[in-house]
Formats: sequence, structure tokens, C-alpha cells
Amino acid sequence: MLTSDASIIANNNKPGVYPLKHENALYWVKVSGENKSNLVRKISAQIAKLNAFTFFQTNATQSAYARFAHEKTILIKLAQLGLPVAKILADDERFFVTENAGVTLKELPPEQITQDLIVKIFSSYGYLHQHNVAHGRPALRDIMVRHDDEGAHVTLIDFEESIENANAQLKARDMFLLLMDLGRLSFITTEQKLSALLQWKKLVDDDVWQTLAKMTRTFSKLTFLAKLVLIVKPKNSTSRHILQAVDILKVATQ
Ligand SMILES: Nc1ncnc2c1ncn2[C@@H]1O[C@H](COP(=O)(O)OP(=O)(O)O)[C@@H](O)[C@H]1O
Ligand SMILES: [Mg+2]
Repeated sequence: MLTSDASIIANNNKPGVYPLKHENALYWVKVSGENKSNLVRKISAQIAKLNAFTFFQTNATQSAYARFAHEKTILIKLAQLGLPVAKILADDERFFVTENAGVTLKELPPEQITQDLIVKIFSSYGYLHQHNVAHGRPALRDIMVRHDDEGAHVTLIDFEESIENANAQLKARDMFLLLMDLGRLSFITTEQKLSALLQWKKLVDDDVWQTLAKMTRTFSKLTFLAKLVLIVKPKNSTSRHILQAVDILKVATQ
């Protein structure tokens, strides 16, 4: 049984994600961390409550157990809504098992990263946003892609940082982080990202787009910081990706 195979993995491994072969099919077992409470976490959770800046909102201050339970609950809900997220097939307090969703966008050969796929990726976040869920930390390693006769299928994973009842700023932040991480795939052109972003725009409310425009204006005023870093450390890729993302957003929202 899938559950008993997964529970053996959970009992014999540290927290993490492990592949599981079962009756010739591939699954993934996510094993929860321990529920240690520590003082630093408690203090930072209090500080996070005071934080007036939604942009920096995070679940990172919660216990590993709370983050795991949150991810599991939200994945089940989103899958029931028919959204493109990893499907949970078995679970327990310490683990959940998902259907194999392919390979990460990072690992996909460049020739398979077509405009159709890029639009599907942006739209996947758009569908979450339509249901007022923000992913929280879009990254190439959490965008899974598989191909079949019907074409490419996108599945979003890793919802530990996700936020229910997300406001416009958190949805806009998702797009900023997505554009930033896509900067690592240098063969994807600005035009490709712009056109996919406009597809996302069609899916979300106008206030989300306006919030993204406002965020872009704020960041435009701060790009000198990223440029300063590049003077000291010309190879700093985070700074380069921030500048790239801001440039794309400026063109899109002006
Ligand atoms: N359903 C899945 N299909 C394919 N690969 C998966 C799946 N779930 C997890 N993985 C792989 O495991 C990695 C880690 O999973 P993730 O849920 O992001 O955990 P973490 O919180 O450790 O980042 C992913 O980047 C991906 O390579
Ligand atoms: Mg991950």
C-alpha cells in the first residue's frame, strides 16, 4: 500500500522530500520536520506581527509542524478547486504523498520551454490569485512540468509559504518573485515574459495590476541599491535579477 511504503520512508529519514516507486509509478513523499519550539522563533513571530510591510510577510517563523499542516490543508483545498497543484494521494500527520508532476522548470531542456509553457506558468499563478491564494515564494524549483499527448502540464508545488485570503500586494509579490527567478533562465526573452504577464493580467482584478504598478514605482526608486551591489560584486545574480524584473515591470505597467 502507498501509505505503508510512505510511512517506512517517513520513519527512516530526516525531514525532506523523497521519491517513492510503487507499482511501477513514481510518487513523492514529503516528510515533516520536528515540532521543536525555540525562543528565536517565538520572538521573530512577535516581530512579524508588528511588521507593517506585507511585502515581507512570511510563514517562516512558524514551527515546522505548523508549516507542514498548512501546506497539506491548502494543497487539498486547491486540488479540490481543480487548480494546478500537486495532488495528495495519501497522508498522515508526518508525511504526505503526491503524484509525480514531472521535472522542475530549472531542469527542463531550454527547447521545451516554449511560449505556450511560459503562459501556462503565469496563468497557473493567476488561477491561484483568482481564489485569493498567494503562493508566497515562486521559484523555478517549485514549478513542475510534464509533457503528454495534450502538451505541457504545469503543477505548482511547495505551498509552505502560501497565504489564504491574500491581498493584492501578496499576489503582486508572487509575480515579482516569479519574474526574478525566471531571470536565471537567460534564454527566455523580455518579450516572452511581457506577453505572459499580460495573460496573467487578464486573470486578476484590476486592483492587483494597479498594486503591481505601484510596487514597480517603489522598486524603481530603490534600484540604485542593486546597482551599488553590482559595483562591489559585479557577479551578484540576485541584484541582476531584481533589476531585470523591475525593467520588465516598468515596460508592462507604464
Ligand atoms: N509531486 C512532485 N512531482 C515531482 N517532483 C516533486 C514533487 N514534489 C516534490 N518534488 C521534488 O522535490 C523537491 C522538493 O519538494 P518541495 O515540496 O519543494 O520541498 P521543500 O520544501 O523541501 O523545497 C522539488 O523541488 C522537486 O524536485
Ligand atoms: Mg521547494
